[in-house]
Amino acid sequence: MSNAKKIAWITGASSGIGRALALKMAHKGYHVVASARRLEALEELAAEAAALSGAITPMAVDTTLPEQVNQTVSRIETEIGSIDVAVFCAGTYEKLLAHEVTLARARPVYELNLMGTLACFEAVLPGMRARKQGRIAMVASLAGYFGLPTSAIYGASKAAIINMAEALQPELKLQGITLQIVNPGFVKTPLTAKNDFPMPFLMEVEDAADAFLEGLESDRFEITFPRRFSLILRLLQTLPYGLALWLTGKTVPKEAKTI
Ligand SMILES: NC(=O)c1ccc[n+]([C@@H]2O[C@H](COP(=O)([O-])OP(=O)(O)OC[C@H]3O[C@@H](n4cnc5c(N)ncnc54)[C@H](OP(=O)(O)O)[C@@H]3O)[C@@H](O)[C@H]2O)c1
Repeated sequence: MSNAKKIAWITGASSGIGRALALKMAHKGYHVVASARRLEALEELAAEAAALSGAITPMAVDTTLPEQVNQTVSRIETEIGSIDVAVFCAGTYEKLLAHEVTLARARPVYELNLMGTLACFEAVLPGMRARKQGRIAMVASLAGYFGLPTSAIYGASKAAIINMAEALQPELKLQGITLQIVNPGFVKTPLTAKNDFPMPFLMEVEDAADAFLEGLESDRFEITFPRRFSLILRLLQTLPYGLALWLTGKTVPKEAKTI
């Protein structure tokens, strides 16, 4: 099928990686349904895509509300058509020191990053199973490879998504559905703008979206960028804990020692 006929649903499309990906896909001829909570931002995005060969249709949704997610998927399938590609990009990040790692701080992050991703998965799966085709990309993070200081809650939410995708991929493949995991490193977006620490291999969002789309059009299970940072963190996973934790210990913020 040519891209011009493909329908893509992207969550987290009002800013950052999801927004840049939506524009790249519309440029290539996809009809993108862009979702996030802020309808105004989605409408601006749709207007920006007006001259492109594809299209962007805004549909606001809060992915932490399964009822809204189900309604959005039904709306897409009835008003636009069957979803060929679903990209679950909505997510949040908070830098937290150990004493800030509490249930109260964890719940909203897991509600969005993990449960929100699950709600979207549950909503698109029946249609894809019935059609015996479709592609789902779940956005996790390189922070999900190995626990990194100040990322306990965020990293665990992303590690859970990676593990879930690994578990589901072989079964879905038998049903004609392609499941991919997306593990970005640091990308310049509103999410990382608040970071006050050095971000190695920081990428421009345009480059990240190019790598994302190239991966979405491939058969690779994992889409990861930038490549070098991904390899370094993969290597960390293979080291004995003593050495790996000594290395990650070097990144503990100074204030952690004085609190
Ligand atoms: N930037 C990085 O360095 C980096 C690295 C690794 C992984 N990632 C992952 O990549 C994804 C996108 O990150 P980003 O950097 O592009 O962040 P971003 O610019 O902050 O974008 C986050 C998106 O999620 C949406 N969102 C937040 N809460 C939502 C909710 N309850 N329901 C629906 N949408 C919601 C936001 O829109 P609204 O506020 O309008 O709802 C926004 O569109 C995230 O999953 C993040 O964890 C990013």
